[in-house]
Amino acid sequence: MKILTQISETKIKNLVRLLSERLKLSTDVSNYAPGRRRSWLQYEAPLGATLPWRKANQDGELWSEILEIGKEIGFTPELGLASIGGTISPHRDAAYADYKAIGINLGGTTFGYEKAYPEYRWAPQAQLVNPTEVSETDLVGGEVYEFNCKNLHWTTKVSPTRWAINLWQVSNKQRSQYETFKEKVCPTLMMQ
Ligand SMILES: [Fe+2]
Repeated sequence: MKILTQISETKIKNLVRLLSERLKLSTDVSNYAPGRRRSWLQYEAPLGATLPWRKANQDGELWSEILEIGKEIGFTPELGLASIGGTISPHRDAAYADYKAIGINLGGTTFGYEKAYPEYRWAPQAQLVNPTEVSETDLVGGEVYEFNCKNLHWTTKVSPTRWAINLWQVSNKQRSQYETFKEKVCPTLMMQ
């Protein structure tokens, strides 16, 4: 993982306000994030091959704050997941996600990461980092970082009031299903 920038205290406060006010949270059902409360942003990604894409929270003010941060680091997200509290055990993000993911950290936590894929793409076994490089980075709030979400990653020592926003672009594997869903279900969004 690599920390790309640090957002200001004012921006952190505004983001936390928007997250607290505009989201309808649900408790995480995944067994790797017990008790975490979260909301998908823009679209809810399918976590299994046979599941559909769904429309998620599309609060314009919150998403434009996020896009502004993305612009600073040259990343245009297509969907995100906002969450508060809760640790996440080591996992890789599912097939909907392209390799490069962005994290916006808004509180105290430790981000664990095991680098195996050296770049933001698939690589055969012989080209993987070997032995893998494990890092645990203490974060305090405001860090914006990139990581390969197909490498194992996790969080520990999560403050119960810590918000996190994870952002992705859609993988090539899911691209056509995602585009088809957007055209069928949210045609007005295509014109923006
Ligand atoms: Fe993840």
